[in-house]
Amino acid sequence: MFRIKPLSAHDYLFAVELANTMNWNMTVEDFKFIASLEPEGLFLAMDGDKRVGIATCISYGRVGWFGNLVVEPNYRSKGAATQLVKHAIHYLQGRGVKTIGLYTYQNLTKFYGKVGFKEDVGFAVLRAENLRHKESLPFMRIRNKDLSLIEAFDREFFGGDRRRLLESIILEEGNVGFYHSENNAVTGYVAATVYDQLAWLGPLICHPDKLDTALGLVAAALSELAGKTVYTVVAKKETPLVDMFLSVGFKEDFSVTRMFLGEPAGKNCIYLAESLERG
Ligand SMILES: CC(C)(COP(=O)(O)OP(=O)(O)OC[C@H]1O[C@@H](n2cnc3c(N)ncnc32)[C@H](O)[C@@H]1OP(=O)(O)O)[C@@H](O)C(=O)NCCC(=O)NCCS
Repeated sequence: MFRIKPLSAHDYLFAVELANTMNWNMTVEDFKFIASLEPEGLFLAMDGDKRVGIATCISYGRVGWFGNLVVEPNYRSKGAATQLVKHAIHYLQGRGVKTIGLYTYQNLTKFYGKVGFKEDVGFAVLRAENLRHKESLPFMRIRNKDLSLIEAFDREFFGGDRRRLLESIILEEGNVGFYHSENNAVTGYVAATVYDQLAWLGPLICHPDKLDTALGLVAAALSELAGKTVYTVVAKKETPLVDMFLSVGFKEDFSVTRMFLGEPAGKNCIYLAESLERG
């Protein structure tokens, strides 16, 4: 049996090194960011005094998300990961979460299936190096005053309350946020987190019958990210969106499957993930 305890600030470097054995490009800032949103949502598996595994989770009201699960190679197949997943489920349910989502490599769907997760749809993690400039039409930038409308729209389709996360992304200087509305009702929005030479495009949520709006919003965001390495996570069934990404030089890095424990969250919509570990 392993012991699960909170992962605190002096464990971030250990967490980064362990996560990056998987080429996840994590930094201390990423763990700080998760801790700022969910201070008790980072976990460490211990064998005696030795740190052997990590996992994180985040709660959005009725919906929670699980991620960053890694166990030291020498300690695998001994149940540490199963304990970390169960611990996170218990924690999230204690926060009132009814549905937990995650993205997993396809070879681990059975592993998560054993603790009750069920497969939803397939996603592709896409990457573009030195992104080409993309022409786009003008869209409204998300301002402070628009946030409550965007948050309500996001909540309706995502199924959980991502207010803290969206504000952290959209209000950060240098990041990107556009939306579209018709008759004063939001029909879609997109945001991107911009680092130095890297950017993460998402979340995008768009009304399911507003494909042109989704394509326009994505083009508007991409036009601001030219020259950077850009990542995005798109549902494979969104073929027009996938085609648009491929046409500007994105390539598939790897595939993941979205899984849910509990009723699948949210409503049908056109969707780009915010990140693998936070949904
Ligand atoms: C996946 C991982 C977290 C499992 O950790 P663990 O502590 O060994 O997990 P547990 O002991 O609780 O469960 C082990 C079971 O998971 C499944 N499993 C683990 N790795 C697997 C793989 N590569 N392919 C298929 N099934 C796998 C098997 O059913 C395994 O049972 P077995 O040991 O009897 O074969 C660990 O292998 C790891 O850190 N992998 C690299 C990071 C990663 O892929 N993280 C998941 C991101 S979605």
